Amino acid sequence: MATCRFSSCMLSMIVLILSIHENPLHADDMLTANQPLSGDQKLISQDGKFAMGFFQPAAGGSSGKWYIGIWYNKIPVQTVVWVANRDTPIYDLASSNLTISADGNLVLLVKHLKIPVWSTNITNNTATNSTVAVLLDTGNLVIRQDSNTSNAIWQSFDHLTDTWLPGSKLSRNKVTGVTKHLISWKEPSDPAPGIFSLQMDPSGANQYTLLWNNSIEYWTSGNWTGDSFTGVPEMSPASAYPNSAYTFQFIDNDQEVSFMYNVTDDALLTRNVIDVSGQTQAWVWVDAAQAWVLYFSQPKSTCDVYGICGAYSKCSSNAVLSCTCLKGFSESPRNGNPGNQTAGCRRNVPLRCGHGDSAKVKNQDRFYMVSGVHLPDKAQGTDAANVHDCESACLNNCSCTAYHFNGTCLLWYNDMINLRHDIDGLMDNIFIRLAASELPDSRREKHWSIIGIIIVGLTVVSIGVAILYFLHVRRRIGHIYSGDGSMINFRYNDLQFITRNFTERLGAGSFGSVFKGIIPDTATVAVKRLEGLRQGEKEFRAEVSTIGKIHHKNLIRLLGFCCGGSKRLLVYEYMPNGSLDQHLFGKSNLTLSWSTRYQIAIGIAKGLAYLHEECRDCIIHCDIKPQNILLDESFVPKVADFGLSKLIGHDFSRVLTSMRGTLGYLAPEWLSGQAITSKADVFSYGMMLFEIISGKRNMERRASTSSSVEFFPLLVAEEIPKGGEVHRLFNNELAGEASPEELDRVCKVACWCIQNHPDCRPSMREIIQILEGLKPVETPPVPRYLKLLADGQE
Ligand SMILES: *[C@@H]1O[C@H](CO)[C@@H](O)[C@H](O)[C@H]1NC(C)=O
Ligand SMILES: *[C@@H]1O[C@H](CO)[C@@H](O)[C@H](O)[C@H]1NC(C)=O
Ligand SMILES: *[C@@H]1O[C@H](CO)[C@@H](O)[C@H](O)[C@H]1NC(C)=O
Ligand SMILES: *[C@@H]1O[C@H](CO)[C@@H](O)[C@H](O)[C@H]1NC(C)=O
Ligand SMILES: *[C@@H]1O[C@H](CO)[C@@H](O)[C@H](O)[C@H]1NC(C)=O
Ligand SMILES: *[C@@H]1O[C@H](CO)[C@@H](O)[C@H](O)[C@H]1NC(C)=O
Ligand SMILES: *[C@@H]1O[C@H](CO)[C@@H](O)[C@H](O)[C@H]1NC(C)=O
Ligand SMILES: *[C@@H]1O[C@H](CO)[C@@H](O)[C@H](O)[C@H]1NC(C)=O
Ligand SMILES: *[C@@H]1O[C@H](CO)[C@@H](O)[C@H](O)[C@H]1NC(C)=O
Ligand SMILES: *[C@@H]1O[C@H](CO)[C@@H](O)[C@H](O)[C@H]1NC(C)=O
Ligand SMILES: *[C@@H]1O[C@H](CO)[C@@H](O)[C@H](O)[C@H]1NC(C)=O
Repeated sequence: MATCRFSSCMLSMIVLILSIHENPLHADDMLTANQPLSGDQKLISQDGKFAMGFFQPAAGGSSGKWYIGIWYNKIPVQTVVWVANRDTPIYDLASSNLTISADGNLVLLVKHLKIPVWSTNITNNTATNSTVAVLLDTGNLVIRQDSNTSNAIWQSFDHLTDTWLPGSKLSRNKVTGVTKHLISWKEPSDPAPGIFSLQMDPSGANQYTLLWNNSIEYWTSGNWTGDSFTGVPEMSPASAYPNSAYTFQFIDNDQEVSFMYNVTDDALLTRNVIDVSGQTQAWVWVDAAQAWVLYFSQPKSTCDVYGICGAYSKCSSNAVLSCTCLKGFSESPRNGNPGNQTAGCRRNVPLRCGHGDSAKVKNQDRFYMVSGVHLPDKAQGTDAANVHDCESACLNNCSCTAYHFNGTCLLWYNDMINLRHDIDGLMDNIFIRLAASELPDSRREKHWSIIGIIIVGLTVVSIGVAILYFLHVRRRIGHIYSGDGSMINFRYNDLQFITRNFTERLGAGSFGSVFKGIIPDTATVAVKRLEGLRQGEKEFRAEVSTIGKIHHKNLIRLLGFCCGGSKRLLVYEYMPNGSLDQHLFGKSNLTLSWSTRYQIAIGIAKGLAYLHEECRDCIIHCDIKPQNILLDESFVPKVADFGLSKLIGHDFSRVLTSMRGTLGYLAPEWLSGQAITSKADVFSYGMMLFEIISGKRNMERRASTSSSVEFFPLLVAEEIPKGGEVHRLFNNELAGEASPEELDRVCKVACWCIQNHPDCRPSMREIIQILEGLKPVETPPVPRYLKLLADGQE
């Protein structure tokens, strides 16, 4: 580290930038009237980044449908950013071409058809004989006169499809009412306009919104504050790369309200889309992974997308969205599209109400309770003194399908949409109306005594079985701590039992959910249920046994696993104090003292140093963040989830995709395509170190003004070279007991860790020595992307 000076960092950065700009491609980027485009011909933008031509959606199989589109030309994954003939595909490629027509329009022609399949519909083009179409480096297709490059007669950026590229604008013209907006694809194989759109708020607020069927708003960005939208703090320019490379332009005047973003770094491939799932998503191309990585999406839970599960269906989304029909309902016909969950569910037996002599038959409907749900919107309140009145109120109206009573009576009419399984633990109940024949008759109590006896009998038997099983499990797995250290191969049934069928969820990590399990009389454990793993049993066992051999005071211990069929579970020691983020940012009032935090920082470094240097194979953790640091009963930190990147088969794109929303800890080389080394962990550690010492998230809204966001690492990095009054940046309550010397050391180390170039960052071993005061530390330069940002703000 001592040899790595600021100048050498700058130099490597310049070399990097130059290498991006060498060798520009000179391809044909222009379409003219006498050179139509057909077959596999394509236009390629000057810098080679984008291509335009005929394509078939990769997800489409052999649908035989062809579209004109624009896509990224230099990456191996088909990524279409614009489609011309969204809902008018062509079926015979050989007899079609794209050309400039005599009236100066860009048209898609098919042999024997008199009118174009698709046209730009320009009506005021006066220079028809010199019209050309040009694909620009921005991905914008422009129609203009050959000689006049500044005057676009038509451009694809004015007719966006589902993708919002840097430099393209969302807008609403206040005079004409014309909007430029995004509309999702219908499905991954069909670019036709879907049901979701993203546009500037139709009601006039300074925000953008997600709409269902152009009418129902299910997410809004929050108002523009001058540098970001209130609901999208990630967008703030003061956050980490790649956001720091973004610029934004929000315009609100008499003519229009519009919003545009751009990137200052040409090499960064990034795009925003409105996905078929109804989420707005921001993706960045990661060369190292050769994959797109999602780093922002809203609404966070796909269950919050309006109507995503259709009617009478309960939505839950853990790793994947799942829709389940309510009792008494079954899936509506999917019209040959089994993946279309928005079709929802329908009644097995129609309600009696409304079919016959109403007063008599309305009472032949009954209700049953669905618990643990987040109530759907669009309820109507009604006066009702108690739950019976509420039920009657619903029975009295044939369109009423459900009620809820908690002091006030809420009724739902017609199709019930957006019933969600509650993950926040608010646990509401809702009563669903069914035809009486669908439910056992609870009103007649004739058989009560017999039923009672059966229930008591069953209860006794099941308690007996449980006790026996309890003893059995204890015998089978009781030797966990018997000291031989070998890992246990659990049976799935055992894990179901000790976790009470996975009821107490401790958290949801990168690779799946974690549940608390109690091994009778022996230990409490944490059971991680891995999701979406496609690895074979043999490889899984091999990796697990490698991880199981890793023992270190600051690494969480793997006690056992379960592997059968498609099920993959890991059993870890249980950490009573939870994860570090709960203590740093949680509501818990247990503020960690300075010395505890300092010891935690050192402990984590020791755990990582062991992973990096002392294991047989060097293990790069890849996902260091406070959620992955657990604390034992005396607040000794234990690094969790290490080795999981290996478990998923070195598939970096999976590692990255699982990091949704934690891009703030991600080293720049993940995005630039340089090799990933243990220094990537050092970067993440550095970002986390700032949070450990400040006790708050790196990016946080200033308390005083809601409009500005401060980026703590930048404040520190800039303060250090000025002579270091760093302690002034800290909350006194937290840092008060810190010695100025410790504070100075830890701030400098953190800044070294987040240097742009991996070679400039210290190793974990060096970090330990510095934090323990055994090695001096020099003044670090302001890290590159922080510096870019600082310059931009002058
Ligand atoms: C383009 O297609 C149209 C309609 O099929 C046809 O009339 C025209 O000759 C084609 N142009 C070329 C150059 O193939
Ligand atoms: C062009 O006009 C035709 C006829 O009015 C219409 O069907 C088509 O959707 C329009 N195309 C575009 C791209 O607006
Ligand atoms: C276009 O047409 C106009 C008149 O119709 C003519 O004066 C002009 O020279 C033509 N330009 C080209 C490039 O053919
Ligand atoms: C290009 O078009 C613009 C707008 O129509 C016009 O103001 C400008 O003079 C034109 N430039 C040339 C070189 O024809
Ligand atoms: C044609 O009309 C559009 C808007 O209707 C306008 O933006 C464009 O500048 C006009 N083009 C010419 C050549 O007048
Ligand atoms: C976006 O940024 C690029 C690179 O900085 C710049 O060349 C381009 O003009 C910008 N685009 C817009 C619309 O501001
Ligand atoms: C956003 O601005 C509009 C008016 O411009 C205002 O009515 C609305 O309350 C604001 N929303 C929030 C969340 O501040
Ligand atoms: C969407 O809205 C249109 C009217 O704006 C309506 O005709 C159509 O039925 C709606 N679609 C659905 C799926 O409700
Ligand atoms: C899904 O089903 C709904 C209702 O049947 C229908 O309106 C919609 O078009 C279907 N979507 C797709 C992508 O097939
Ligand atoms: C049932 O409730 C709906 C919604 O409040 C109302 O429009 C309708 O008139 C009611 N029907 C009867 C028969 O009361
Ligand atoms: C009943 O539910 C409503 C809506 O969810 C809520 O606002 C209200 O506080 C609840 N009342 C009680 C007594 O829990």
